[in-house]
Amino acid sequence: MRLEKYLIQCGIESGKKIKKLIRNGEIFVNDIVELDIGKQINEKEDKITYLNEILKEKTLRYYVMYKPAGYLTAMSNPVNDKPTVADILPNWIDKRGLAPVGRLDKDTEGVLIFTNDGNLNYELTYPEKSIDKEYYAELDRIISDTDIYNLENEIIIDGYKCKPSKAEKITDNSIVLTIVEGRYHQVKKMLKAVNNRVNYLKRIRFAKVTLDGMTLGEIKEIKRETIL
Ligand code: URA
Repeated sequence: MRLEKYLIQCGIESGKKIKKLIRNGEIFVNDIVELDIGKQINEKEDKITYLNEILKEKTLRYYVMYKPAGYLTAMSNPVNDKPTVADILPNWIDKRGLAPVGRLDKDTEGVLIFTNDGNLNYELTYPEKSIDKEYYAELDRIISDTDIYNLENEIIIDGYKCKPSKAEKITDNSIVLTIVEGRYHQVKKMLKAVNNRVNYLKRIRFAKVTLDGMTLGEIKEIKRETIL
């Protein structure tokens, strides 16, 4: 098997692309650094290590939760004991190695993907991949056509110019906003930048994953190919 494929199958967790890990000399095959991504390895016999740990193939799992408001996006919260999304994962899900993909605020509802596939998690959250995230937002004040134009093209938050987004007016004070980044509180800050405020926020799509047929709080297993 190709080294790259093996590392994907191990669900390797890292803030870097697998290609980069190999290029940086962070992957060892039988204690020797390996720089060739296409290196053929024997998964039964070769010892593959990263950060001094021997990597093992695992079953990669993917889930989508229709997150309710009131839960932090975290797998544990020992500091202040606030409820987290991990608390509402059903018992049939093995939590080991599982992580949420990106983050929804405590008061935000909607699509939250979980996986133990570190490579896919990275692909979905790395800013330059420009993956769609679609939000339905109810607002404090009426939204004008100028606001819609500005939301799509002209928003600066914390000194950073947002990438173009798509904004669609649903009613006088509700919109669907599709963004390709995932900055902290991005939707709320974008609306603040046009002098409005989000009263209710729901993520209705992340990449290809929607809430179709799901009820609030539900979680179901999905296939990798239905995500990207
Ligand atoms: N943007 C926000 O402001 N909050 C979220 O939870 C997600 C996107």
